[in-house]
Amino acid sequence: MDKIRITGGNKLKGSVRISGAKNSALPIIFSTLLVEGRHRIENLPDLADVNYALKILEELGAKCTFNKEESYADIMIPKNLEPIATYDLVRKMRASILVLGPLLARFGFAKVSLPGGCAIGTRPIDLHLKALEEMKAKISVSEGYVTAESAKLQGAKIFFPMPTVGGTENIMMAAALAEGETTLENAAREPEIVDLGNYLIKMGAEISGLGTSTIVIRGAQKLTAPKSHAIIPDRIEAGTFVVAGLMTRSDILVKGARPDHLKAFLDVIKKAGGVCEIDEDSIKVSGSEHKDLKPVQVKTAPHPGFPTDLQAQVMTLMTQAKGVSLIEEDIFENRFMHVQELVRLGANIKTNSKVAQVYGPSELTGAPVMATDLRASASLVVAGLAAKGITEINRIYHLDRGYEKIESKISGLNGNIERLK
Ligand code: UD1
Repeated sequence: MDKIRITGGNKLKGSVRISGAKNSALPIIFSTLLVEGRHRIENLPDLADVNYALKILEELGAKCTFNKEESYADIMIPKNLEPIATYDLVRKMRASILVLGPLLARFGFAKVSLPGGCAIGTRPIDLHLKALEEMKAKISVSEGYVTAESAKLQGAKIFFPMPTVGGTENIMMAAALAEGETTLENAAREPEIVDLGNYLIKMGAEISGLGTSTIVIRGAQKLTAPKSHAIIPDRIEAGTFVVAGLMTRSDILVKGARPDHLKAFLDVIKKAGGVCEIDEDSIKVSGSEHKDLKPVQVKTAPHPGFPTDLQAQVMTLMTQAKGVSLIEEDIFENRFMHVQELVRLGANIKTNSKVAQVYGPSELTGAPVMATDLRASASLVVAGLAAKGITEINRIYHLDRGYEKIESKISGLNGNIERLK
């Protein structure tokens, strides 16, 4: 299994370009199932999860060609395909459950394996299923599979008791081909939801309220494959590089980002005293300019709140702040697995259920560590860049799921990083 070895201490310099957002790419890839024909998806990041999503479509009967040099994929969706996603396909990536909505809406039937457990929490899909039932789908769960049937899904008024990103996406896709109007209340507001909505609009769906907590979708009789669509930049990758610059007290330019998608994160960075200059599509990090970072209180929340996917990275940054930071994880119940690994690198962090207290500053020193999930892995890379000596990160397949060309991007910034096969 591959490892990453980082020799810490180098000052980073230069610029890094942000890739397309994984969490936008996945639902958009699955949404192509709604329509026969050729879909061209641009600014598509070459990530394990994206390749896997394309593989799922191929197993279902689509033809996909991914031009990795030019970051676009052509997806040919056939007229007929078998709307069945087996356990073998779904178990490796939870987001595969997003095939359910489009397959059901288009074929009137779908059988999809329940995704398995996940390191960061139980992550049920009950809200996806309840919403489909409200749209008059007959749902049964047995032998590890969800079977959904409906000759024609009916528009409905759906209230989500908590905003769910995947749930909102699954139902938006289903509603795009349903009879009548569907209103989603307390819907998720993430930029990736807006990106998916914009793709559905290009297909011919009528959608209003994207980016707000009430989304209205008027189902179409027929949708058509749009000419092309470019995925938005990955706000989590951008935030991770901002933290890397500040952690190493370096000056770097994070290019091709959308700072307007990162407001809550950038507010926290500002409160911590991190110096960043924000432009429309870039963030200039002046890590060499800040003196002592100040501790912060952070609570993760659905967008526009502080993103759970940047919690581990900000916790890592706070190991360098002078004082006690409080970091509360309110989205997933088991998302502090990076804490023990950071402690191995010299951090002083205590956790109590969903709150972590970070006592800083700590001098970090390299050690072998284990990546436990995608964002935890990113926090270890950032810590390794600032630590004295060598940090070896094991189980980096997590990292490959969500960070495109991470070694070449970090080497390009003068970081000392190598992959050991
Ligand atoms: C998505 C993102 C993930 C991010 C998360 C929260 C993708 C591919 N993944 O995950 O990176 O960390 O949003 O921003 O976009 N819940 C239920 N029942 C449901 C659905 C969700 O109880 O049916 C709960 C979850 O357990 C969790 C919370 O709702 O506590 C939010 O989950 P959700 O927004 O659905 O996350 P994902 O779509 O899985």
